[in-house]
Amino acid sequence: MTIDLQKVDAIVATRGSGLQNAIPVLQGVQEEFRFVPREAIKRIAEITSMTESQLFGVATFYTQFRLKPVGERIIKVCHGTACHVGGAEGLTEALEAKLGVKNGENTPDMKYTLDSVACVGCCSLAPVVMVEDLTFGRLDRKKAVKIIDDFEG
Ligand code: FES
Repeated sequence: MTIDLQKVDAIVATRGSGLQNAIPVLQGVQEEFRFVPREAIKRIAEITSMTESQLFGVATFYTQFRLKPVGERIIKVCHGTACHVGGAEGLTEALEAKLGVKNGENTPDMKYTLDSVACVGCCSLAPVVMVEDLTFGRLDRKKAVKIIDDFEG
């Protein structure tokens, strides 16, 4: 994947170049590329007072930042307590089988990324899967697989 460094420059120009701006700058990079590419971090370090290690420190400390490319749709299976009790493990297994990937991986066509996350805050709907900003609740294996079928429909 080629990273357009001019886009990185523009993000720094609007969000600031001091260490206090590291989070908004990295958020801008992630909004643009859907993850924080290594090349972007290198570029930010070249044109600001922030160092690569400071930027990596911030990017790895906050779970909101992704350092690897992701698919067009991120499927987040909640593995918080209520969802775990409600069968989250089975949902992950069913989705792994459906997508042909392991948890944490992207499908080869980069359409989906399967991920497990901590409580997403709607435990009364457990077990829950989120696809981007859509929430699907009270799922079983079959319903979880149907989410993908409906997207593919
Ligand atoms: S544990 Fe899954 S939404 Fe809270």
